[in-house]
Amino acid sequence: MKTLILYASTYGFTKDCVQMLKKNVNGDVQIVNITKESIPTLDDYDTILIGGSIYMGQIQKPIKNYCLKNLDALKNKKIGFFISCGSAEHSDDYFKTAFPETLLNQAVSIENFGGEMRPDKMNFFHKFVSNMVEKSSDKNNTPPMKPLPENILNMATIINNLS
Ligand SMILES: Cc1cc2nc3c(=O)[nH]c(=O)nc-3n(C[C@H](O)[C@H](O)[C@H](O)COP(=O)(O)O)c2cc1C
Repeated sequence: MKTLILYASTYGFTKDCVQMLKKNVNGDVQIVNITKESIPTLDDYDTILIGGSIYMGQIQKPIKNYCLKNLDALKNKKIGFFISCGSAEHSDDYFKTAFPETLLNQAVSIENFGGEMRPDKMNFFHKFVSNMVEKSSDKNNTPPMKPLPENILNMATIINNLS
């Protein structure tokens, strides 16, 4: 079985998640960073897993655009979607905004990998916003952002059990 993982990651959390995913998916698995590497033809793959991270409610544009442009090719594949984000309670809305509805309906796996802030790597604006988000989360008692590695393992198990 051949699997392609297409992803975008602004500060590296999603990159770490897809590396964990690759380790746990059986068979031949290729990882491609959609913002930095060329994307191979989908013909060679049985399963395509696509995702990125959420900033101001939106996934990275190249991920969103890729799904729209390749809708027909993706419809003929086993597909899975993942996001990294801080707010688990909004993850359903993020999926709906990020990916075409028809593809979400046929996906074999949809997972939120959780999130992590990496302020040492952030640009000034993102650091400023993340400080504000942190303060408002403390004030409103919203659950803190955390990685959800169990959801990465869930996705791997589902892919490994596909015939
Ligand atoms: C400026 C900024 C805006 C963000 N906006 C959201 C958001 O709207 N919703 C959310 O759930 N998480 C948000 N996050 C959290 C990121 O999705 C989370 O940190 C994620 O793990 C980043 O992954 P990456 O390092 O792969 O880009 C935001 C983070 C930053 C720094």
